[in-house]
Amino acid sequence: MLQDLLKITHTEEQLKARTCELAADISRDYADKNPLFIGVLKGAYIFMAELCKNVTIPCEMAFISASSYRGTQTTGCVSAQTDGLPDLTGRHVILVEDILDTGLTLSHICKVLSSRGTASLEICSMMDKPSRRKTELKGKYVGFEIPDEFVVGYGLDFNEKYRNLPFVGVLKPEVYES
Ligand code: IMP
Repeated sequence: MLQDLLKITHTEEQLKARTCELAADISRDYADKNPLFIGVLKGAYIFMAELCKNVTIPCEMAFISASSYRGTQTTGCVSAQTDGLPDLTGRHVILVEDILDTGLTLSHICKVLSSRGTASLEICSMMDKPSRRKTELKGKYVGFEIPDEFVVGYGLDFNEKYRNLPFVGVLKPEVYES
């Protein structure tokens, strides 16, 4: 797997340290609010675990699944599976995402969730590619802003592979062009 990478952009230590900072910010902002973290599967699972481990206030967790990507290209057609979510009425929800790219996936999810009576809804994303945005969406808690490069690792995949890498890196072009 390592031979498929052009470069490592964020080491495990950097990812963990930044995630701890975000957890501290959230713990301060949401004291006494019992926030509900909703992780967007599959990409957010490692970040969500690392984040929630470091949150120091009472909180709850849930997951939804969404997809809009095939290979390195967004299909622009978002599907979200929200079955199994608890009642969101009056809840302070923090949507946890691996990466904010065009923003189409989270815009769709935000519309669906806020129609269920949430008291507040914010986004926490490990990575953000602002230059790719096609919506007004902004993450309140963002780990790292990155350029327009396709990255893998720490939950992020290319065709379901590389999610288990403990760091984030850029694939060699020949890997996704083949
Ligand atoms: P958006 O709807 O364009 O913001 O795309 C969000 C989803 O696309 C993310 O949750 C990822 O699953 C996927 N995605 C976007 N950029 C990348 C990337 O660089 N690497 C891996 N997945 C990505």
